[in-house]
Amino acid sequence: MVDEPIVVAEALRKRFGATRALDGLDLSVPAGTVCGLLGPNGAGKTTAVRILATLADADSGHARIAGHDVAREPDRVRARIGLAGQYAAVDEKLTGRGNLRLFGRLYHLSRADARRRADELLERFGLLDAADRPVSGYSGGMRRRLDLVASLILRPQVLFLDEPTTGLDPRSRGEIWDSVRELVADGTTVLLTTQYLDEADRLADDIAVVDHGRVIATGTPDQLKASIGDRLDVVLADPAAAPGAVTVLHRLAGAYPALEGDRLSVALASGTVRITDVVRELDRAGVAVGDVGLRRPTLDEVFLRLTGRPAKAGTDDETGPAGDRDAGRREEVVR
Ligand SMILES: Nc1ncnc2c1ncn2[C@@H]1O[C@H](COP(=O)(O)OP(=O)(O)O)[C@@H](O)[C@H]1O
Ligand SMILES: [Mg+2]
Repeated sequence: MVDEPIVVAEALRKRFGATRALDGLDLSVPAGTVCGLLGPNGAGKTTAVRILATLADADSGHARIAGHDVAREPDRVRARIGLAGQYAAVDEKLTGRGNLRLFGRLYHLSRADARRRADELLERFGLLDAADRPVSGYSGGMRRRLDLVASLILRPQVLFLDEPTTGLDPRSRGEIWDSVRELVADGTTVLLTTQYLDEADRLADDIAVVDHGRVIATGTPDQLKASIGDRLDVVLADPAAAPGAVTVLHRLAGAYPALEGDRLSVALASGTVRITDVVRELDRAGVAVGDVGLRRPTLDEVFLRLTGRPAKAGTDDETGPAGDRDAGRREEVVR
């Protein structure tokens, strides 16, 4: 038990009517690491987090946090976890400081301890400037940060972040990422769900790709990228030469390249084709190129390869509360 990962899920299943939200989900997160649960809208991420956080029961399977079964010892689990999500749970009318003090009291801290902890967290996470303004004037990013900070009041060993940056602008996303890195430096284990491939890439030590309620691939970001080989990118000097270039690349790579504007991109098994051969063959076919390069694939390309579908972030989430304040401000940040 000593070396058991701090978060373990085994064959979790959960149905909602005919929908299999979880269909045998396995997960294991070593203490002190960030695990990215990466999947498109509807993949089952929130359902998994809710079960792990004792907010919902699985139909079957088991899950343990720090060795404690989530179904049989929910209180022990709750004492060790924090949860922050896509829908900030903070009170609009209170100030940032007021919210944190209130949460502290709700968690049964003494008045003095609640104050102290609120001050500590505001300072630590760069919210002091806004601490005494009502949350109603906060930006979406600041609200989300405050929500995240509120989940830290009891110093959880394991923090669940359910799509912490969905709908935020790039700058606010960066601020949340910085906060997550702060936490990890403290030794907190983080299970982060995301639809954003770059987010998992930046924050996670390990990624579990979830699709249709199960984990379809796991690995470090680099391992996932390596598992699908290199990408060959060719930028054409003249887009009219695309058909000729497609023929050449198909012959060399054994697959049809994707064409976007003047750029062609195709997967290559690592080490099978040399750039010089590509340039020579294109030249022989009369295709003038602006640029040719080999690179590791993006996680978007990994997802496409694993599932046959792009991992495009959904713009809405049926499972959120109806009165979601940020709904109108959401913007697509996945390219
Ligand atoms: N309370 C619920 N009632 C009915 N269906 C649900 C409920 N919660 C989730 N689902 C369905 O289960 C599937 C997984 O949902 P969810 O875990 O929210 O996915 P994700 O968080 O990855 O977007 C979806 O098809 C969703 O519509
Ligand atoms: Mg969700």
